[in-house]
Amino acid sequence: MAGAQARQRGGNADEVSVTTEHGVRIEVDGEIATITLDRPEKRNAQTFATWSALARIGESLPEQVRVVVVKGEGPSFSAGIDLRMFTPEGVPGQGSFSSAAKSDDVTFEQRMRQAQAGFLWLRRPEIVSIAAVQGHAIGAGFQLALSCDLRIVADDVSFCMKEPALGLVPDLTGTKPLVELVGLAKAIDICLTARTVHADEAMRIGLAEKVVAGGDLDQAVRDKVAQLLAVNRDAAIATKRLLQGAQGRSLEEQCAAERLEQAARIKSLFT
Ligand code: CAA
Repeated sequence: MAGAQARQRGGNADEVSVTTEHGVRIEVDGEIATITLDRPEKRNAQTFATWSALARIGESLPEQVRVVVVKGEGPSFSAGIDLRMFTPEGVPGQGSFSSAAKSDDVTFEQRMRQAQAGFLWLRRPEIVSIAAVQGHAIGAGFQLALSCDLRIVADDVSFCMKEPALGLVPDLTGTKPLVELVGLAKAIDICLTARTVHADEAMRIGLAEKVVAGGDLDQAVRDKVAQLLAVNRDAAIATKRLLQGAQGRSLEEQCAAERLEQAARIKSLFT
């Protein structure tokens, strides 16, 4: 892995592995993977390298992992895209929006697709992803939190979809989960005003599953992880598949999907 540092803890290679690449740390401890955006001095601002690192984590996630926690080091979950992208110089080695504007359509499409790959895998049925969000989650930061299945937040959280205020659209896979979570009208309100959503509103409109005091965030996440790991793994995967497909199916189709999944479960459990 380019630019990566890897180390093992506990003397046993199977116990805990920690790898860092481009300011993204991944720690795998048995069935739990914890991804930490680790550039607190820049409020975990994200670059194309961040998204490539996230995508690579998704590609190489060990099969035993059932829960993925995504968090940010320091006072903010993430201040969104690195603002150097808006400057002519851009981010060293990664270009700028000015250079991206000059690329041909195919190259541009490919680059955006690669960026989105860093976010998309967090929805896989084989895992449950939890965003542990404190402080600011702006733009790409908000969208990263939206990529996760669940959001547990600190009481100082402030979500903001700032892209439209900067002349951009949210394009890091966040628009669909936002609409699904809060409804179209509220999503339009949040995005087209680029206003801040604080903890109480986030809880009320379904953006957050739980709000806790900042100092209790890690414990609240640990508790949720323990609850998730307590259920049968294969049943969890099949149930997530069913739930994810529900909105796109008619009731009749959904009932058929339930029958199919249950038949597989019962055969696996009782034969
Ligand atoms: N990019 C690069 N650097 C950033 C950054 C960002 N998005 N956000 C903060 N930083 C840097 C600051 O420049 C500062 O660096 P120095 O110490 O070297 O001066 C450091 O992080 C600390 O920042 P603050 O002093 O501002 O920290 P704060 O805690 O007082 O405020 C904040 C935090 C409210 C997040 C504020 O930093 C801020 O508003 N940041 C910009 C947010 C933003 O506009 N992001 C773009 C979102 S749009 C998007 O993400 C688009 C997309 O996906 C396509």
